[in-house]
Amino acid sequence: MRFSALSGLQTKVPVKFSTPAVCALLSICCGASTSLAQTAPPAPPAPVMDLLRKNGCIACHGLVHKQVGPGFAQIADRYRTDPEAPPRLAEKIRNGSVGTWGRVIMPRQSLVTEADARVLAIWVLSQPSPATK
Ligand code: HEC
Repeated sequence: MRFSALSGLQTKVPVKFSTPAVCALLSICCGASTSLAQTAPPAPPAPVMDLLRKNGCIACHGLVHKQVGPGFAQIADRYRTDPEAPPRLAEKIRNGSVGTWGRVIMPRQSLVTEADARVLAIWVLSQPSPATK
């Protein structure tokens, strides 16, 4: 009697408490992973978006993936540990580039001011890695 009452308790308790706990855990995990999968890349802040639009950058560059030119997240990944990257990319944004990513030419962007090019270069380099999306 004493024995069976005890074992009844032992089996009931974990079953009673674990089922809702597992459900909660599952819904947290599934909720988090689906929302991660659906998350679009963070939209650029308005001033940067203006520069990207005004200068036609996003006609050639995806925020993440390659279009005509490399995706901004791919560029960020390539130069993440390169301390010389911000000034060099700012210069390349103004002067154009070819041969770094392939044979497609990025024409010089002569309407982009030095200050705007610096803002754009720093923003590009701040993009999260495409692998984490
Ligand atoms: C006509 C298409 C086109 C436009 C417009 C364009 N790009 Fe590019 N961009 C490219 C291509 C193609 C490359 C790869 C060039 C290479 O391989 O050297 C590139 C490369 C780059 C790079 C990487 C350079 C490097 O050394 O790795 C940056 C940064 C960049 N573009 C930023 C911009 C910004 C900012 C703008 C807008 C001001 C812009 N691009 C406009 C096509 C374009």
